[in-house]
Amino acid sequence: MGINTFMFRERPLGMNLRNYLIRDLNPEDAVARARDKAQFKRVLRENGIPAPLTLYEISDYSDIARLRTLPGEFVIKPNHGMGGNGILVVKREDDVFISPANERYTLEDVRGHLRKIVNGEFSDNIERDQALIEERIYPSPDLVFRYAAGLPDIRVFCFRSVPVMAMVRYSTEISRGRANLSQGAVGMGLDMMTGGITHIHAKKETEDYTPDFFGIPADFRVPRWEEIRTVASETARVSGLSVAGVDVVLNSAGQIMVLEVNGHPGIEIQNINERSLLEALQGVHYIL
Ligand SMILES: Nc1ncnc2c1ncn2[C@@H]1O[C@H](COP(=O)(O)OP(=O)(O)O)[C@@H](O)[C@H]1O
Ligand SMILES: [Mg+2]
Repeated sequence: MGINTFMFRERPLGMNLRNYLIRDLNPEDAVARARDKAQFKRVLRENGIPAPLTLYEISDYSDIARLRTLPGEFVIKPNHGMGGNGILVVKREDDVFISPANERYTLEDVRGHLRKIVNGEFSDNIERDQALIEERIYPSPDLVFRYAAGLPDIRVFCFRSVPVMAMVRYSTEISRGRANLSQGAVGMGLDMMTGGITHIHAKKETEDYTPDFFGIPADFRVPRWEEIRTVASETARVSGLSVAGVDVVLNSAGQIMVLEVNGHPGIEIQNINERSLLEALQGVHYIL
């Protein structure tokens, strides 16, 4: 069944109501604090929630000029970026930097990319941005199956700090190692109770996806699912966002980390799960 033709048992949450809920329930200062990735990572650290280390924060051209030593591998991202835009994941080999999709960049390309970020090219609604150089995280082997590239993440949609819907966002060469659906990552809906896969969809659907297509065993469960839900809930709580999209990863050591929290989470998660957010949010009203 196509992603846009799925008939919900309940009406899906539409963009207008989603925007209204966010305006009404997410305080402006909490939204701003979450958008500033470097700052929010400090909030996470203060609350004992692991996040990737920031190696450098680059604010202007002179910071770029001063950058002499780069680690063997790292990730560059716009501090106020979204949707995976402007994210570069690389590993150095001799004089070149290679991405998970095997693209090659020179040091001058990397500097050029940093300049674009500080010029605000990847960041909506702001004039200039900072570039973050972050430690590169490798995924837990438990989440790496066929066609995987880069770092898959788990998006947990929280309402009033209650995890209501979740999906694995499976990064591939097509998404150039990034786990954003808008970049072409594949969404795998998750059963909130068990962490098992419910439905699989991608934005530009060409395949009828099944776990088997990716070589995922039928009895697959996201490891440490209970703890992931707890960390997502805790992250939503410390963010002060009533509507929060928490991006969780399991690193190669099996440790749970939080990449970021989104104060304007997307609603495609409903299509991935074939389940209405309206229905899920009403469940929270019932609990609280
Ligand atoms: N430190 C990292 N190491 C490896 N991959 C990363 C790292 N940070 C981000 N990524 C990849 O890029 C994607 C988007 O990163 P994120 O920080 O959530 O920014 P955005 O706001 O653009 O979604 C992640 O889902 C992941 O696939
Ligand atoms: Mg993200």
